[in-house]
Amino acid sequence: MKGIVLAGGNGTRLHPLTLVGSKQLAPVYDKPLVYYPLSVLMLAGIDDVLVITRPAEIDLFRRLFGSGSRLGMLIDYAVQEEPRGIADAFRVGADHIKGEDCALVLGDNLFHGAELPAILRRAARKLRGCVLFGHRVTEPRRFGVAETDAKGDLVSIEEKPEHPRSDLAIPGLYFFDDTVTGIARDLRPSARGELEITDVLRVYLAEGRADLVRLGKDITWLDAGTPDSLLDAGRFVQDVRHRQGTNPGCIEEIAMDMGFIGADACYELGAGMSDSPYGQYVMERARAHHRDPAPTAFLEE
Ligand code: G1P
Repeated sequence: MKGIVLAGGNGTRLHPLTLVGSKQLAPVYDKPLVYYPLSVLMLAGIDDVLVITRPAEIDLFRRLFGSGSRLGMLIDYAVQEEPRGIADAFRVGADHIKGEDCALVLGDNLFHGAELPAILRRAARKLRGCVLFGHRVTEPRRFGVAETDAKGDLVSIEEKPEHPRSDLAIPGLYFFDDTVTGIARDLRPSARGELEITDVLRVYLAEGRADLVRLGKDITWLDAGTPDSLLDAGRFVQDVRHRQGTNPGCIEEIAMDMGFIGADACYELGAGMSDSPYGQYVMERARAHHRDPAPTAFLEE
């Protein structure tokens, strides 16, 4: 399965922070925001990822992740000239996907929870069209919203509805089969001129090929696209770091746990940043892996 991180958009809700920089490179505690969505794809077992950015920032992302080889991955880059909506990712990324299943994650979405790796891998395995997720929120009108019937089956999907039919928001993480590029190619822009991801999901729903997976209270989901939510995300990661001793979004640790790289390579990556608490954490995780090589991500399944 291929992965796409959509890190385009003008980040207007974060101006002036994002006037001359990318939202997805903004700091969330000890690392750039984009580390978190990338780590989600990795936890799903995906090691071949396309990062889609604005033209002005593609080189910054390239400098950050390179070819992906240090993480045992393939990371490639593509440019979205204008923000044309989330579903445009499948047009920009059509060559990358090349007839395979794919997972799309939005570059400002952060997910955390012990059950997450198992949930992601189950979703990837049961794919028979698309899998979207649902998470209860207090302000559903800020998001895509899913409505279910009494049996819990998905019946409607709406983008930022004025009068939401449920409080089940659809986070920015989706799994699709290989028909998604064709669906995106034929899609018409919405009233606000964008290729909406919810319209893609609706095509699958109409064909009876959309599965909704609910994320329970034990899964934290944050969309860090506003000043408050960006700060909340940083505070959340700091809290997990201090209270649980783990580090959400640590891509070097996840690469090791997923078996993309060995513990020695992971240690070297940490040693290259040994002045920072992040680098020291990576080195410590690599040392712990030597003592007990069972990868946590697999143990949790
Ligand atoms: C986008 C999607 C929306 C989804 C949200 C999740 O909205 O259009 O369906 O619920 O991401 O973060 P945006 O936040 O880009 O306006």
